[in-house]
Amino acid sequence: MTVIKNFKENRRIAQRISEIRPSGLRKLFDLEYEIAKSSSQKILSFGLGNLNIPTHSEIINELKEKLDDPVSHRYSSNAGLLELRESLVSRYKRRYNLDYTSDQVVITSGCLEALFDTFLAITNPGDEILIQDPTFGYYANQIKLCGGKVIPIPMNEKFILETEAFNNAITPKTKAIIINYPHNPTGSVMDRKQLRDIVEIAADNKIILISDEAYEDIIYENHIHSCAAELDYDNVIVLSSFSKSYSMTGFRIGYALGPSDLISSISIVHQNNTACASTPSQITANIALRSPSSIQASILEELAKRRKETIKAFTLIEGVKLTNNPLGTFYIYPNVKGTGMNGSEFSEFMLHNCQVVVVPGNEFGNSTDDYIRVSYGFLNQDDIIEAGSRMKSCL
Ligand SMILES: Cc1ncc(COP(=O)(O)O)c(C=O)c1O
Repeated sequence: MTVIKNFKENRRIAQRISEIRPSGLRKLFDLEYEIAKSSSQKILSFGLGNLNIPTHSEIINELKEKLDDPVSHRYSSNAGLLELRESLVSRYKRRYNLDYTSDQVVITSGCLEALFDTFLAITNPGDEILIQDPTFGYYANQIKLCGGKVIPIPMNEKFILETEAFNNAITPKTKAIIINYPHNPTGSVMDRKQLRDIVEIAADNKIILISDEAYEDIIYENHIHSCAAELDYDNVIVLSSFSKSYSMTGFRIGYALGPSDLISSISIVHQNNTACASTPSQITANIALRSPSSIQASILEELAKRRKETIKAFTLIEGVKLTNNPLGTFYIYPNVKGTGMNGSEFSEFMLHNCQVVVVPGNEFGNSTDDYIRVSYGFLNQDDIIEAGSRMKSCL
């Protein structure tokens, strides 16, 4: 991708694009590609937030049958297929005892579109939106594209958002906070009490709480995920996705749930943006929602094995330690300071010397330069073990 340098002189391009920080991940992946060409060893990448577990064959087979029906070849209603919205309403009742109606749901092209539509629907120029630091890199860029001001809040060593830090970040211009648990990039989860404290502060200050729960189903060791909307505050927008829950990243289906006025506004952005999410993908999502629980269990079983090997591979390296217990997602976020390197140096060292890819913590904010993000979404167990022994011998 071309890097655009001089925005002031390039009048063809909108000023707002100059606010967007180029992704260091792209540089890393380009370098990975260069090294792969000259290396005899296979590159082992803990870099991707993608999953290499195929969508379950039962879901795919049912989709194939449904594709013969011309309904699947057309636009759906703007907010999404009614059957899918109704299935989601039942799911939120069953799982979280929440009473949504189908017009409080909008189906989007991935959670990413739900995020963007939400920020566009709520942000006036100069509104401050609070984000966690570290956090998923797209939030800051999307908020800036929507004319908002990004206010990062550093988290504690376990990557929990503390009430004091949250309170200190609030100003009269604060419009919303976005929280994400289970948390990308660290794998941290919040317990119900911690979540309640955050929701109470949002309520006391009348701030919209956006809760990105894209990893709500990827949890380990019997942790119980609470949905932010369970905690008696009306101004909560819940965003989630089928990408991780059913290993369906390529289908691009996500959604937003919330109070009717906010969801109607999000729907207006969505209509003008994409008209509707892909109909075949929405049909697939509805098949997935009605599929046996064993399908999700098999994804979790595979990820749990990889998680164990990944934690072992990294914590056996001298100077690398975990400061949290990553009970969710398919990421771990170790601190590498004890190796004498920061996250960027560690990442470069590993790529050049061991052909192993990890992502430096400075990709996710400004407060965790000594950390790296490690994703086990795209490496099988054997490759994780191989990566561990390569790294150990390199260092
Ligand atoms: C925290 C978080 N939110 C949202 C998304 C986007 O998910 P989707 O594939 O549904 O667009 C991701 C993807 O990695 C993510 O990590």
